[in-house]
Amino acid sequence: MKVGVPKESAPGERRVALIPDSVRRLAEANVDVLVEQGAGDEAAALDSAYEGAGAAIVGDVYSEADLVAKVQSPSEQEIGRLREGQALVALLQPLTSPELVGALAKKRVTAFSMDSIPRITRAQSMDALSSQSTVAGYKAVVLAASHLGKFFPMLTTAAGTIAPARVLVLGAGVAGLQAIATARRLGALVFAFDVRPVVKEQVESLGATFLELDVEGAEGVGGYAVALAEDQHEREQELIARHVAESDAVITTALIPGRPAPLLVTAEAVRAMRHGSVVVDVAAEAGGNAEPTEPGQTVVKDGVTIVGETNLAATMPIHASQMYSRNVYTFLDHLIDDARLTLDFDDEITREACVTHDGRVLKEPVAV
Ligand code: NAI
Repeated sequence: MKVGVPKESAPGERRVALIPDSVRRLAEANVDVLVEQGAGDEAAALDSAYEGAGAAIVGDVYSEADLVAKVQSPSEQEIGRLREGQALVALLQPLTSPELVGALAKKRVTAFSMDSIPRITRAQSMDALSSQSTVAGYKAVVLAASHLGKFFPMLTTAAGTIAPARVLVLGAGVAGLQAIATARRLGALVFAFDVRPVVKEQVESLGATFLELDVEGAEGVGGYAVALAEDQHEREQELIARHVAESDAVITTALIPGRPAPLLVTAEAVRAMRHGSVVVDVAAEAGGNAEPTEPGQTVVKDGVTIVGETNLAATMPIHASQMYSRNVYTFLDHLIDDARLTLDFDDEITREACVTHDGRVLKEPVAV
């Protein structure tokens, strides 16, 4: 069996799906790995390292590979290069990508989405949503600290005492909890809110204060939040606004699977922030949690810097690729038996991750 690793083509995408360490593990299992020339360059995984791990460096992986391992969804041009019966593993976001899923089914590609792997204990090491959210949460705080013209920690110096920065983290899932931990390590005073009350304890154990806002949402399938009722949503915006105004940096990470990101921070709330404050909207890719966010841009409005970077994980390509590669390798190890792709649709991980097979769509997009 041949696994192919192409160079990512999406603008700004610097990650690679498999790094040499994972290639070595696959080679040990008698799986051939073909890597497109320069595929790992931006993640510091050089062709020579891939060759040392047992891969062959080629000009085109699509024509020969039985399975193509990617980070991003294939572009139209890349879909054109996929072959009938070929398998594909990537972050496909099937719930919100009906055209892509339809095109993959039409091509009769067996597509697996790394973001559809169920969040069960046995699949934890395949959980790319968690690994990449960890990177995003960390980087969001580093960006906030670098845009803020203030220290994060409290300092007592001969030139006076510096008060610690106040950081507000909205959404305390994987990215939010990592943001809280990172901001705390930098010495900031951290406040956080999430509609899932179960996270209160986790927030507090990281040394942050959980805001008691009297807004409570339900937890749906897989531990995800479900959208709030409209009156609760408005109430949340109002209650959050006061805390936003008092914060030096606001990091927003709230997401609802298959839907646009909930709007938590209104333009009015941002206007009320002090000049020089920062908002980093980690949910920008899903439209953003802050009204003034411009996805893909960093803008300054009314003296407040709003970072709308849509692919934070790609800005830390070395560790993001290392973690994603481990997720992909573990998933492939699950699918491959005796150096052959062996699909058992009775298995929850295989079934849930598989988006298209045999010309059929197995994961229908949800109405948003
Ligand atoms: P996510 O990225 O879908 O959402 C981020 C956070 O935003 C969530 O905590 C959600 O409750 C929150 N949120 C949604 N709407 C909000 C609103 N209106 N206001 C404030 N916050 C809002 O979630 P993520 O990070 O992917 O984690 C989802 C769940 O999955 C969590 O319960 C997590 O603990 C669980 N999980 C389980 C794993 C496992 O292997 N068992 C691995 C990773 C996560």
